[in-house]
Amino acid sequence: MNNYNLKLAVIGTGGWGKNHVRVLNDLGVLYAVCDSDENRLQHISKKYKINCYSGLDELLEKEQGLDACLVCTPTKTHFPIAQKIIRRKINIFVEKPLSFSSAECEELTKLSKQYKVILTTGYIERFNPAIQDLKHIIEENTYGELLMMEFHRENRMPLHIKDVGIIYDTSVHDIDTALFIFDSRPTVVFARSGKKFHSSEDFATIMLGFQNQKVAIIASNWITPKKVRRFSAVCSEGIITGDFITQEIKIDDENKTLIPRRTFEEPLTLELENFLKALSGKITKFLVTPEEASAVTKIAEAALISSNTGAPVYLEY
Ligand SMILES: NC(=O)c1ccc[n+]([C@@H]2O[C@H](COP(=O)([O-])OP(=O)(O)OC[C@H]3O[C@@H](n4cnc5c(N)ncnc54)[C@H](O)[C@@H]3O)[C@@H](O)[C@H]2O)c1
Repeated sequence: MNNYNLKLAVIGTGGWGKNHVRVLNDLGVLYAVCDSDENRLQHISKKYKINCYSGLDELLEKEQGLDACLVCTPTKTHFPIAQKIIRRKINIFVEKPLSFSSAECEELTKLSKQYKVILTTGYIERFNPAIQDLKHIIEENTYGELLMMEFHRENRMPLHIKDVGIIYDTSVHDIDTALFIFDSRPTVVFARSGKKFHSSEDFATIMLGFQNQKVAIIASNWITPKKVRRFSAVCSEGIITGDFITQEIKIDDENKTLIPRRTFEEPLTLELENFLKALSGKITKFLVTPEEASAVTKIAEAALISSNTGAPVYLEY
C-alpha cells in the first residue's frame, strides 16, 4: 500500500499525460491508464505494472474503488470525458484548460457539486516555486503595492496540438497566474492575435484590466525559435522578475538587487502531491477551484472575441 492509500487512473498518456503517469507511479498511487492509441498503451504497459485500457467505459466498469481520475486528453475531449467520470462520483483532475467553453466549465462545476466530488484543473504554474515566492512577497507587501504584471511565453509551435490555438493552450497558464497573484479577476480584456504557421492563432498579446488601473500583459507566441517563459511584477517599491524554467527570481529596489537562493523542485510533483493531500482531506490550500478554472476559460474566450472584433470585452462573473 502507498503512503497515500489512494488508487488513481490517468486518461490520456501522450506528450503531457506520460509525465503524470511517471510522477503518480513514483508516488505509488497509479493503478490504471487509458489511451485510445494502442501503441501508446503498449509502450506504457511495458514500462509500468498497471492495468491498461483502450476505452474509458471499460476502465470505469472494471476499476472499482478509484479515488480519482486525471484527464490528460486534448482540450476539446475534456468535457465529455469529465462528465462521465463525475457522474460515477469519482474525484477528477482535468488538465488545463478545464474546457474550451465557459458554459461547459460551468456545467462541470455544477456537476461536481451535485455529485460531491473534487474537481480541479492543471494550472501548474501556481505550484512553480518562483510563483509561490512571488505570491508570498506580494502578500507580505514587502515591495509595496502590486501594480502591473507582464508575461512572456514563447517557443516553436508544438506540432501535435490541433484542436486549439495558443490562447487556450499557452496563454491560459499566464491568465491563471495573473488571477492568482492579483487575487482578483479582470473586469476588461483586450487582445490582438494572429496566425502565421498554424490553423488557429499562433501569436497573441492579451491585456487584462483589473480594478484600480492594475494590469497584466500576456504575450505568447509559437514563433520564437527558443523556449522563453518569463514574468515580471512591478510594485510601487520595486520590481520582481522571474523565469518559470529556471525558477529563479530577482528583486530590484532603489538600493539593491536580491537573488534568493533555492533548490529546484518539479512543479508537476508539487501539483500532484497537493492533489493527493486534498483527496486525503489533509489540505485545501493551493488547489485550483472549478470556479477559478472557469474564470480562466471565460477570459480566454473574451480574448478571442476581442481579437476578432478589435474591441475590449467587459466581464462580469
Ligand atoms: N499543465 C501543463 O503544463 C500541460 C502541458 C502540456 C499539455 N497540457 C494539457 O494536457 C492535455 C493533453 O495534451 P498533450 O500535449 O499530452 O496531448 P497529446 O495529443 O500528446 O496526448 C493526448 C493523448 O490522449 C489520447 N486520447 C485522445 N482522446 C482520448 C479518449 N477519448 N480516451 C482516451 N485517450 C484519448 C491520445 O491518444 C493521446 O495519447 C491538454 O489538455 C493540454 O492542454 C498541460
